[in-house]
Amino acid sequence: MKRTHHCNEIREEHIGQAVTLNGWVHSNRDLGGVLFIDVRDREGRTQAVFDPSDLPSDLFETASRLHSESVISVTGKIRVRPEGTKNQKIDTGLVEVVVEQLEVLNHADVLPFSIDDPEVAAKVNEELRLKHRYLDLRRPEMIHNMRLRSRVATATRVFMEEQGFLEIETPTLFKSTPEGAREFLVPSRLHPGQFYALPQSPQQYKQILMVAGVEKYFQLARCYRDEDLRADRQPEFTQIDIEMSFIDRDDIYALIEGLLARVWKTALGSNIPTPFPRISFEEVMNRWGIDKPDTRFDMELVDMTHDFASSEFKVFSGNVAKGGVVKALNAKGFACVTQGQMETMTDYAKSFGAKGLAFIKVENGEWKSPIVKFFSDTEKAALQEKLDIEEGDLILFAADKWLNACEILGKIRLYCAEKLSEMGKMSIPADRYNFLWVVEFPLLMFDKEMDRWYSSHHPFTSPVEEDIPKLSSDPKSVRGQHYDIVVNGVELGGGSIRIHQRELQKTIFEDLLQIPADVAKERFGYMLEAFRFGAPPHGGIALGFDRLIAMLCDSDSIREVIAFPKTAKGADLMSDAPGSAEPKQLRDLHINLRVTKQEKIKPEE
Ligand code: AMO
Ligand code: AMP
Repeated sequence: MKRTHHCNEIREEHIGQAVTLNGWVHSNRDLGGVLFIDVRDREGRTQAVFDPSDLPSDLFETASRLHSESVISVTGKIRVRPEGTKNQKIDTGLVEVVVEQLEVLNHADVLPFSIDDPEVAAKVNEELRLKHRYLDLRRPEMIHNMRLRSRVATATRVFMEEQGFLEIETPTLFKSTPEGAREFLVPSRLHPGQFYALPQSPQQYKQILMVAGVEKYFQLARCYRDEDLRADRQPEFTQIDIEMSFIDRDDIYALIEGLLARVWKTALGSNIPTPFPRISFEEVMNRWGIDKPDTRFDMELVDMTHDFASSEFKVFSGNVAKGGVVKALNAKGFACVTQGQMETMTDYAKSFGAKGLAFIKVENGEWKSPIVKFFSDTEKAALQEKLDIEEGDLILFAADKWLNACEILGKIRLYCAEKLSEMGKMSIPADRYNFLWVVEFPLLMFDKEMDRWYSSHHPFTSPVEEDIPKLSSDPKSVRGQHYDIVVNGVELGGGSIRIHQRELQKTIFEDLLQIPADVAKERFGYMLEAFRFGAPPHGGIALGFDRLIAMLCDSDSIREVIAFPKTAKGADLMSDAPGSAEPKQLRDLHINLRVTKQEKIKPEE
């Protein structure tokens, strides 16, 4: 019996019509001898009524024994639901099908977890959901996420096509370039002892496409990184990957603002204001202490360095004398913090390098703090003015090197916001999207342990033109033409204007990143070679597609918007990947295992 309608289509105008619905038994209730089965498909559900007085007894029997999630086809007439049984919560809630025929297309066993009640389903252990993902994906919330993902992918392709971009697929069997995250290696059968690597991103291919004269490239690209996983990281994920020739940073900003406006309109029907603010790395660190600030709430960091330069409180003045800074923030309404909570917060700050976490509680008109006694009236007045101190406030301080102090208070700011939200003293609007560009990152960072510079983005990022002369004399102060797009505290994407001059690229590899010339040649020789033959100036960006969809679906984890995600241990609990290989496969791949017995990842790990 082929369906005539889907399960979210029937309305009052269909009353009296014969219909056939195909779908799953969502719920099966016996009310006074009459059966009510909700038939559900991808679109929604419709109530089917099995009345024993109108039906052959074997058909009624069959229906009464149907387990949830059995697959059925029902045919019958639509009627209006009797008064008192109407359900305003579902789109088809005013009508029902009076069943005349039933075909059981497949029986379902007793389920490992129930999916008919959204509240119960939402509490099911995630491992169980991932093990039986085919059931989990039947839930309306998951179907909604998959549908939205599909629509945003289509809207992206349409928009990029309109802007003159070509979608080009780049290889996923690539070569190893061990600069960035750890890679997944693929052994070669035809080349004993040699490996492909799965690409961390199509970065090098897309730049080569620019040398190839493609001018405007994009791809919904699959990327692979063998890194420690978190809620916003998966070992394989998708990027909206973009590269363009003959452009500058403003062209990228305008393109991405247009794309995101289109995506928001398509997915949520809302208009997002463009252009987005552009804020330098230095400013975001100074104000929010993080390079991906959530600007939906204030609690900005305030600089108190000069005010405490000659303070009696040596923790502050001593630090300033060493070239450090004093930063403070006002956690409004958090004076109620208990001593235990304050200790937890201090330990938290220390866990990422803080030497302490000085504080002032403002209670009963008094500044309560072990350190206030060291402060002069001028220092107090400066605090009062810069931090707008009121009854009930909690002031927190970090005295350290500039970047450390910013980062410590940046984390404390988020911690306080979370606690204040839990207490109902602060509300962060969930339906507001605060986009911003972070620009002018330093081109290089210094790794003390390794005693060398590394690229803060990647080695292909071009320095800001006017800073190029400082590359050898003062590399620390060289800004990169790198930009990140941030929304509500999430790094959605990043990119840069690239180096297209062979000599400059060689200098970065060899002189600054200290990659020996022969290694640079082996790894990137083909790029340097390509740059000899007419490489146009170019730049690009990649947006994390999974993070974008998670933002639109208001999901905390990108696992909720990926059909078959991996666990934090990189396992696919449904198919049980990764798994062992047959001895013959290993022989063909010239692999001799040192582990004799392969340990299986247990789901609870
Ligand atoms: P980057 O490494 O910043 O840049 O990655 C771009 C965006 O991809 C997303 N992302 C991830 N999403 C899920 N799981 C992961 N493990 C993961 N890693 C990154 C983030 C991130 O902002 N080739 C450059 C881009 C360029 O310069 O054009 C690149 O890959 O949202
Ligand atoms: P101390 O004099 O070391 O006992 O510190 C007095 C107060 O200042 C304590 O509350 C410490 O947590 C705090 N403190 C110590 N070092 C720092 C620092 N570098 N930044 C901010 N607070 C600090």
